[in-house]
Amino acid sequence: MDKTLLSIAIDGPAGAGKSTVAKKIAKKLNLEYIDTGAMYRAFTLKVLENGLDPKNENEVLSLLENTEIIFLNNHIYLDGKIVDEEIRNNSVSKNVSYVSSYSEVRKKMVELQQEMAKKNNVIMDGRDIGTVVLPNASYKFFITAQPEERGKRRYMELIEKGETDIILADIIDDINKRDKIDSTRKESPLRIPDDAIVIDSTNLTVDEVVDLIIELIKGVNKIVL
Ligand code: CDP
Repeated sequence: MDKTLLSIAIDGPAGAGKSTVAKKIAKKLNLEYIDTGAMYRAFTLKVLENGLDPKNENEVLSLLENTEIIFLNNHIYLDGKIVDEEIRNNSVSKNVSYVSSYSEVRKKMVELQQEMAKKNNVIMDGRDIGTVVLPNASYKFFITAQPEERGKRRYMELIEKGETDIILADIIDDINKRDKIDSTRKESPLRIPDDAIVIDSTNLTVDEVVDLIIELIKGVNKIVL
């Protein structure tokens, strides 16, 4: 990787606030924000739209070669079409962790993500950024929070979007299931990179996490949490 380019890797479990925090930092530090979860979600959307079974690896892989996924200017494109809204629906959320567990799927996404980091100063969030995608990232953070708090945040997000038939306990359950699949899969499981700074955001606001990360990057606060 070009040493003159800046890269910030943010990993962590579902609903920890990674993408909200990463977007704000991108704006403040003038970095390109890359939402790698959106890329796995977009491919999952395609699998579902084609009536294929996300748990059937062969069916899923049959679509991979003829799929174009691009994350550009904060929009996710699936085969040339913006799918920002569609990728957040419940069926995508419930199935994305199966699709993202297949090594061929990961290989394709990781290559695309590494290409993007070669061209721009980036802040990238996901599950394997500090461990696999950008092992030499300039800075690595792992943002987490208690599962109940993460469930509440996701619930509020969906309510604000106008969803009505959702139950908090189900959301917490889905998040726990996804975390389990993501952290126990064979291929690039979710784990804390050895050289990452861990931030527990359970009792912190988004802006507090943003400020903390920026302070840590600037070296003002040398305390590792
Ligand atoms: O936003 P949320 O925390 O719900 O998840 P996301 O970042 O949109 O990621 C959705 C799913 O994609 C995760 O649960 C993982 O299964 C998968 N993913 C992954 O495997 N590797 C990444 N770098 C990013 C996401």
